Amino acid sequence: MRPELEEYKKSAQIEIQFVAHNLNDLYKMRNVYLSKNGLIAKLMGNIKNLNPDERKAYGQDLNELKTYLEDLFNNHIKILEKGELAKKLQSETIDLTLPGRSLDSAPQHPFHLIADEICRIFIGIGYIIAEGDEVEEDLYNFTLLNMPENHPARDMQDTFYISDSLLLRTHTSPVQARFMQKHKNEPLKMISPGKVFRRDDDDNTHSHQFGQVEGLVIGEGISFSHLKATLDLFAKQMFGPKREIRLRSSYFPFTEPSVEVDVSCHECNGKGCSTCKGSGWIEILGAGMVNPNVLTMNGYDAEKYTGFAFGVGIERVAMLRYGIDDMRRFYQNDIRFLKEFPKR
Ligand code: DAH
Repeated sequence: MRPELEEYKKSAQIEIQFVAHNLNDLYKMRNVYLSKNGLIAKLMGNIKNLNPDERKAYGQDLNELKTYLEDLFNNHIKILEKGELAKKLQSETIDLTLPGRSLDSAPQHPFHLIADEICRIFIGIGYIIAEGDEVEEDLYNFTLLNMPENHPARDMQDTFYISDSLLLRTHTSPVQARFMQKHKNEPLKMISPGKVFRRDDDDNTHSHQFGQVEGLVIGEGISFSHLKATLDLFAKQMFGPKREIRLRSSYFPFTEPSVEVDVSCHECNGKGCSTCKGSGWIEILGAGMVNPNVLTMNGYDAEKYTGFAFGVGIERVAMLRYGIDDMRRFYQNDIRFLKEFPKR
């Protein structure tokens, strides 16, 4: 390389070593040599003034110088960048002794605690769990449960229709019909937990959405005494061994006879208090012997089989178990409320 070009190499090296103290200086210096208006560009511009036979060799030397300078600057930029990064990291070290910000979370929701507990009690005496859909056919929600079109009992549960024949189920009882149709003429014991929906005013004991656990037992010789013993066992396991049950005559289209079931108040032991509104008893579920029409419509021989069924309100049981005063609390997602419940 021509000596005068060789000189630029040296001067660039010296400047980098002694003049550039930081990345900014270095970028500026690189521009002096390598930018569009920099030294190399100017020298390239001079080529046209040379004798044609000199141009090629000069051009090659210039290219060599350009590559040299580019490598030189790039290497030093890298070195300085590393140094600056190290400095930055050092000045921004994280103080690991600061306490972390914890995520506020709650244990299991009381709705699920109780739903699981109800299921566990029945699984313990041989029931199997059946699942149903929250969007249900009118046929299963009403007709196959002995509530044909225009039956007045439909009114009490009239609900959110999706189309003429589809609705958000008003109770978990349609799972009875579906399960019977699947197990035609076989003895069965099932429970089915889930959400149900009704056109209801929302107040402290009503919500447009709530949970139920449906129970169904079918077999030869199943009688009302089986139903009573089962519900008595359930009440004692859920609310304590001292609890008694009381059956009151009622009406449901899908059971005959039908009962409403109360449990003796756990607060006052039946004497009467504010929890049981002075009566000593608290209603917890509806039940009855499966109406023979329901058995027949769903494929069972009603001459051979009998059965009982019941429907428990999940929030109602949870409210009694935990002393919750307002049903809306189940759906407000207030972490202060949710944290009150036991971890499993
Ligand atoms: N389906 C009823 C309701 O939602 C509750 C019920 C009552 C379920 C009696 C039953 C039963 O299985 O036998 O009000």
